[in-house]
Amino acid sequence: MNLKCASFFAGVGGIDKGFEKAGFETIYANEMDKNASITYKANYKNVHLDVCDIRDLNEKKDIPAFDIMLAGFPCQAFSVAGYRQGFDDEKGRGNLFFELVRIIKAKKPKILFLENVKNLVSHDDGKTFAIISNTLEDLGYHVKPMVLNASSYGNIPQTRERIYIVCFKSVTQYRKFDFPKPIKLEMTLKSVIDFDTEQDQRYYYTEKCSFYNELRDSMKSSDTCYQWRRVYVRENKSNLCPTLTANMGTGGHNVPLILTHDDRIRKLTPRECFNLQGFPDDFILPETLCNGALYKQAGNSVVVSVIERIANEIKKAIE
Ligand SMILES: C[S@@+](CC[C@H](N)C(=O)[O-])C[C@H]1O[C@@H](n2cnc3c(N)ncnc32)[C@H](O)[C@@H]1O
Repeated sequence: MNLKCASFFAGVGGIDKGFEKAGFETIYANEMDKNASITYKANYKNVHLDVCDIRDLNEKKDIPAFDIMLAGFPCQAFSVAGYRQGFDDEKGRGNLFFELVRIIKAKKPKILFLENVKNLVSHDDGKTFAIISNTLEDLGYHVKPMVLNASSYGNIPQTRERIYIVCFKSVTQYRKFDFPKPIKLEMTLKSVIDFDTEQDQRYYYTEKCSFYNELRDSMKSSDTCYQWRRVYVRENKSNLCPTLTANMGTGGHNVPLILTHDDRIRKLTPRECFNLQGFPDDFILPETLCNGALYKQAGNSVVVSVIERIANEIKKAIE
C-alpha cells in the first residue's frame, strides 16, 4: 500500500493517529497553534511539521508529494455555537476550506479525508455543504459524506457527531468504499475515567465554589458526566460524556464533572479527556503545557477509533 498522508489543521494529530493505527504514514503536517504543535511534535518526531498559518504555505515549495490529504478544517464558521456565517465569516475562517482547495489543485492527492461538525450539512440551508461538495467534484473527486456518532461507531462513551467526507480520484475505489457499520458500545465511563484514585486537588470542587450547592443537589449518580451550565447542572445520559469542546480550555467550568467513589465532585483531568477521544495511553501530553491548553486540544480533536475504522475501510477500498 505505502500511501503517504499530509495533515492540515493537524492540531495534536488525532486524525493522523487513526490513520497510523490503520497502517498509513503521515509525512507532513501543518498547524499554526504553538501549543498544539508542541503536543504534535512530542508524539510525531518523524513528521515534518510546519508551524505557520496555512495561508502562508507555498503549496509548491513547502509541501512534499503525498497521496492522502487529512484535514479537520476549522469549524467555528460552520458551527451552531459559532457565528453562523459560513464562507462569509469576516474573520475568514470559513474560507480556510479554499486553502485546502489550493493545495489539492497543486498536489493532486488520490484521496481526501475531511472532518467537520455535523451541522456543516445544514448550514445556510445546505448551501455551504453544496459548495464544498461541488468544488471537490469539480476538482475530479468522487465524494462520499456521512455523519457518524462516536458512541455508535467508535466504541467510545462520548456523544460526538461529526461529518466525515471521504473523496477518491478513482471511481473504482469510491465504489468499493463504504463507511464502517455501527458497533456495540462496550466501553464504559469507568474504563476511561478513574472514579477511584485521588487526583490533584485542583480538579475538585469544594464549598469555596459559588455554585457548589447546586452541584451537590444535582449530582447523585456515579456513572454520569455532568456539566455546569451557568445557572443549572446538566445531567447527561448515563454512561455517555457530552461532546468535548475546545471551550473546555477557557474558564475551567466547561470541563465535564463527575461524582467520585468517595462522593466528591471533580472535573475530568486532561488525560481523561484524551481517553474520551480514544487516544492511546502512551500519547504524550507535554508537561510544559498548562491544563487550559490541553483541554482545548482534546476538545478540538477527534475520536481516534472512529477515524481508524474509516481508514481501515479506505485501506480495503484501495487494496
Ligand atoms: C478542529 S481543529 C483540528 C484538530 C485536529 N483534527 C486534531 O486531531 O487535533 C482545527 C485546527 O486548525 C488550526 N488552524 C486554524 N486556523 C489555521 C490556519 N489559518 N492555519 C493553520 N492552522 C489553523 C487550529 O489551531 C486547530 O488546531
